[in-house]
Amino acid sequence: MAALGSKTPPAAAAGLQGRRVLVLGAALVGLAEGPLAGADVTAGGVEQLDGLSLAACDLVLIDADAWEAPALAAAVKALTAAKSPPPVLMTGESLPAGLVRNLLRLEHADILEAPFSPEQLSAAVQGLIAGMVAAPAAASASDSRCWAVIGAVGGSGATTIAVEIATALAERPGKERVCLIDLNFADGAAAAYLGSTAAMRLGDFGPAAERIDQSMLQAFATPVSERLDLLAHPREAQAFDTASREAVLRVLEIACEAYDWVILDMPRHRRAWTLEALSGADEVLVISELTVPALLAARALSDEIEDALGSGLKPRMVVNRLGSRMFGPAPSMAEAERALQRKALAGVSSDWEAAAASVNLGGPIAQHRPKSKIVKDIQMLVEKLAAEPARRDSQTRAA
Ligand SMILES: Nc1ncnc2c1ncn2[C@@H]1O[C@H](COP(=O)(O)OP(=O)(O)OP(=O)(O)O)[C@@H](O)[C@H]1O
Ligand SMILES: [Mg+2]
Repeated sequence: MAALGSKTPPAAAAGLQGRRVLVLGAALVGLAEGPLAGADVTAGGVEQLDGLSLAACDLVLIDADAWEAPALAAAVKALTAAKSPPPVLMTGESLPAGLVRNLLRLEHADILEAPFSPEQLSAAVQGLIAGMVAAPAAASASDSRCWAVIGAVGGSGATTIAVEIATALAERPGKERVCLIDLNFADGAAAAYLGSTAAMRLGDFGPAAERIDQSMLQAFATPVSERLDLLAHPREAQAFDTASREAVLRVLEIACEAYDWVILDMPRHRRAWTLEALSGADEVLVISELTVPALLAARALSDEIEDALGSGLKPRMVVNRLGSRMFGPAPSMAEAERALQRKALAGVSSDWEAAAASVNLGGPIAQHRPKSKIVKDIQMLVEKLAAEPARRDSQTRAA
């Protein structure tokens, strides 16, 4: 490929700051100092294109001359099959037509014939990045699944269950990526339970929510495990007031594009965005504990949500801390279902030792106490719900 100078006009690298760029081809890697200045550049191989999504990478640069044509063609084909693939810029001297055809099947892709100048490379990169930012968020075209988890009363275990559901989904076989979003902006506990850091400051955007794009979402996200990311707000008393409705809904929309599964830990009290967030979910799980007031509150909350959404989406009940008789007689599951006036989707066993180990050590129960009944119960819940067809349709999505 063409020899490239390393001097680039300062403006050329604008917009690349902090973006994760995967570069395939040793000669292109040398560009990190020039047109890619400021970007987080990783050198890689064609095998990394398989299943690569925007959640993992913001841009791919491929030097086609550095790879065997059949291997590269197969890798590009695999990339076109990925969910939300990142934009790709391919360079090379004489690119095979089949490869180009495959590449252009990607929504965001470009070709730069060698030899080319650093300025031409910068312009092509900027064009691709600009195209991504300008692309309308297409949540309605996304086939990601979103489950919202909401507690019927304080302390019913909503955060615990949301964390364990997200963990269980990320540990299923395959490559599906999961995002847990803690929408309790003022005092969310998901980051603490996971021993992770909260890095999403939505207040910084004010009303400029449209500026939130895939790359910003990734900057907000904290990786928890290979296929699980967390989006959570640092503890801040005013956070519910400073995060605009538009910013919250935009984050949800972008997350549904970038991840296969999005799990929402919902605040119990209604916010300006609560109903839209719930209507964009394909399942709403109301978490109750096994006490009469909690069961009655779960029934009332479920009715409220169903009526307010008016889309036919019926929240599902999950009864937490089954078998807990520490504090005197508890209703049986049958009695609980009578109080709820509906069947529960699942029950989750009580295991205080495992729950305490998880929150005190920082990390899911599935990690610290994998044999706990809680883990088994959550796995059953996840498999049962995942096996059902996604209930969301065009009418029940957020507008
Ligand atoms: N199945 C369970 N067995 C034992 N302890 C549990 C179980 N589920 C949750 N807990 C514990 O109950 C406490 C409250 O749980 P959690 O924080 O998940 O509830 P929440 O509904 O999210 O509370 P909040 O209303 O504050 O958001 C935590 O200490 C948690 O470890
Ligand atoms: Mg909570």
